[in-house]
Amino acid sequence: MSTQGRKTRLDKVTTQTVVNMKQSGEKISMLTAYDFTMASIVDSAGIDVILVGDSASNVMAGFDTTVPMTLEHMIYHTSCVVRGVERALVIADLPFMSYQVTIKEALISAGRMMKEAGAHAIKLEGGRYVADTVKRIVDAGIPVMGHLGLTPQSIYKFGTYKVRAKEEKEAEELLEDARLLEEAGVFAIVLEKIPTGLAKKVTESLAVPTIGIGAGPHCDGQVLVLHDMLGLNKDFSPRFLRRYADLHSEMTGAVTSFMKDVKSGDFPNENEQYK
Ligand code: KIV
Repeated sequence: MSTQGRKTRLDKVTTQTVVNMKQSGEKISMLTAYDFTMASIVDSAGIDVILVGDSASNVMAGFDTTVPMTLEHMIYHTSCVVRGVERALVIADLPFMSYQVTIKEALISAGRMMKEAGAHAIKLEGGRYVADTVKRIVDAGIPVMGHLGLTPQSIYKFGTYKVRAKEEKEAEELLEDARLLEEAGVFAIVLEKIPTGLAKKVTESLAVPTIGIGAGPHCDGQVLVLHDMLGLNKDFSPRFLRRYADLHSEMTGAVTSFMKDVKSGDFPNENEQYK
C-alpha cells in the first residue's frame, strides 16, 4: 500500500519530529487554533504544532472556564483545523469528563478525535491519576501529550488560576507525575504556569519534550493561545503573555471605517458594483 498521499509528501511534523527536536536542541513552536482560516495562516507561517485547545471554550464560545466544552464541540473545532493544515502536527484536547470516568470511555473519546476529527494526537490533563489511561490510549496507537501544573479543567478544585507548584511538596509531586506520564508513553508534556526552576528540572529529567506556557525559557518549546498573542483579547494580560500584534485595535478600526463608509454612502463605489 502506498503511503505517499498528498500530505505525506510534505515535510510533515510528526510526534517523532518533536521528540527529535528536543534531542537536537531545536525549540518547538506551538500555537492554538480552532478554525480553518486561522489554522491555515498559522500552518503556512511554518508553526511546528497546532493545539486545538479546550481554551476554545473561552475564546470561541465565551465561557468563563473550559469545563462546559464537550467532545462534540472539540471534534467540530478539530475537524475545521485539520482541513486547514498541511504540515503542522495537530493535537486536540480531550475535554473535561471525556476521559476521567473510565479507561474505556477515554479510549472511545480519543478514538473519535482521531477517526472523526482527523487529529494526529490528543492531549489530556493530569498526572498519576491518568497514567493508566494514557498507557491504554498509547497502546491503542494514539499519541498522547500530557498537561501538568495549572490544569484549567480542575479550576473548581484549585479555585484560582495562580501559579502552581511553588511549594516543595507540590513541586516534587509534579516532577514525579511527569516521570509517570513519560513512563506511560506520552510523547510530550505541556507545563502550565509553574516556576521556571521547576520547569527546568522537569525538562532536564525527561527524554520527551516539555512545552511551556508561563513556565519560563528552559522548556523544550513554548505555546500561547492564538487569540491572546495576536492581541484579540485585550482584557487578558498575564505576566507570561507576549502580544505580537494588536488585532483588537486593528479590527475595531476596520469595523469603524466600514460603518463610516456605509453611513456616508462612500461604500460601495463605482468599482465595487456590477453593471
Ligand atoms: O487549551 C489550551 O489552549 C491549552 C494551552 C493553554 C496549553 O491547553
